[in-house]
Amino acid sequence: MRAALLQEFGGRPAPADVELTSILPQEVRVRTAATGICHSDRFGQVGGNPTLEMPVVLGHEAAGEVVEVGSAVTTVRVGDHVVVAPAGSCGLCRWCSRGHAQHCQNLARTREAGAPSRLEADGRPVTQFVGIGAFAEEMLVRESSLVAVPPELPWETAALLGCAVITGLGAVRHTAGVGFGDTVAVIGCGGVGLSAVQGALLAGASRIIAIDTMASKLEVARQLGATDVVDASRDDAQAAVLDLTGGVDHAIEVVGRPATVQQAFGMLGVRGTATVVGLPHPGDEVVLPATALLQEKRLQGSRLGGTSLRVDVPLYAEMHLRGRLQLDPLLGGTIGLDGLADALEGIDSSTAARTVVTF
Ligand SMILES: NC(=O)c1ccc[n+]([C@@H]2O[C@H](COP(=O)([O-])OP(=O)(O)OC[C@H]3O[C@@H](n4cnc5c(N)ncnc54)[C@H](O)[C@@H]3O)[C@@H](O)[C@H]2O)c1
Ligand SMILES: [Zn+2]
Ligand SMILES: [Zn+2]
Repeated sequence: MRAALLQEFGGRPAPADVELTSILPQEVRVRTAATGICHSDRFGQVGGNPTLEMPVVLGHEAAGEVVEVGSAVTTVRVGDHVVVAPAGSCGLCRWCSRGHAQHCQNLARTREAGAPSRLEADGRPVTQFVGIGAFAEEMLVRESSLVAVPPELPWETAALLGCAVITGLGAVRHTAGVGFGDTVAVIGCGGVGLSAVQGALLAGASRIIAIDTMASKLEVARQLGATDVVDASRDDAQAAVLDLTGGVDHAIEVVGRPATVQQAFGMLGVRGTATVVGLPHPGDEVVLPATALLQEKRLQGSRLGGTSLRVDVPLYAEMHLRGRLQLDPLLGGTIGLDGLADALEGIDSSTAARTVVTF
C-alpha cells in the first residue's frame, strides 16, 4: 500500500510503498477513507517529539472501513465505518480505571518488544505516529484506537471526530467544565479551537470571544457561536478581552506558544481557569504573575480533551446527524497524498480550519 513516509525531522513526507505485517488478535485493519491534517502532525514532522523514531507515517485523525479484524476483537466487524483516534487505552490501568484513559499507562501504540513492527518499508520497521499512521491507504491499529460510527456520516466529517472535535469539545466540556452563563475566550481558531468555540456555545456560555490572527478563521468562529472576535494580528488579545469583559471565567489556549499561554492566564477574571490545549515545544517555559494566584486563578493542561472515545465519538456523530453539532464549517479542501507535504508546510497560513487527505 501507499503511505506518506517521513525520513527525517523537517523533511517532506513522500508517498512510498509500505507493507503491513500480519494482524495480531487485538488489532484491526482499516482501509483509510479520509485523514484530517492536525497541527500535531506538523509538530511531529518538525521534531516536537524528539524521541519519535524515523521513518514515520504521520496522521492520526482518520475515518475508514474495517477490512480485517484480529481473533480477539469484539467491538467492530468487517464493513463497519470507524473513526480512528489517538485515544487508544488498555481499560485496566490506574488511569483508565479512574476515568482518565488519555493518561493510560499501557497505550500499546507499538507492539510488545520482540514482535515485528506493524509497518515495514524495504524490510525496515516504520513508526506509526501515535500508534496510527493515518496518511496511508491502510491502518493497522489496536482495537482501542477506534470506534464504529453510523455509515451515513460522510468520511471527511467522520475524520474530524478523530482529533479536532473530541479535543476542542472535550477541553471545554471535560477539562474546563464550562458552565451555563460562563464567559469564555478561545485563543487560536483552527480545527481544534473552533471546536472549543462550538463547545462553549453548547455549554451555554454567555459570551464567547474568539481570537485568531486570521480573519477567515474568525468568520467561521462567528458561524459557530462566537459573540465577539479579536484579530490578534492587529490588537493585543489580552487587553481586548479584559476590555470586553473585565476578565473571563475560562480561557482556552489552542495555539501552543508560551506567549499565548501567558495571554490566556492574563485575561482571566477572579477564580478564572486557563486551559492549555496547544502543544508547547520541548524547553518552552511560561512566566506568570504569582500574585494573581491569590485571586484563585488556575492554569491547567488538557490532553485530547479528556475524551472517552467510545462515549464521545458516537455522541458527537449522532448530534451532527441530528443537526445539533455543526462540522461542515470546519472542512476546508480535500487533497491527495501527493499534496500532503505542501499542506503541512503551509499549515500556518492555511485559511481553512481543516484540510483533509482523501483516499
Ligand atoms: N492537547 C492535545 O491533546 C491536542 C490535540 C490536538 C491538537 N493539539 C494542539 O492544539 C493546537 C491547535 O491545533 P490545530 O490543529 O487546531 O492547529 P491549526 O494550525 O489548525 O490552528 C491554530 C490556529 O492558531 C492561530 N494562531 C497562530 N498564532 C496565533 C496567535 N498568536 N494568537 C491567536 N491565534 C493564533 C492560527 O491562525 C490558526 O488558526 C496545536 O498546538 C496542536 O498541536 C493538542
Ligand atoms: Zn490532532
Ligand atoms: Zn490504561
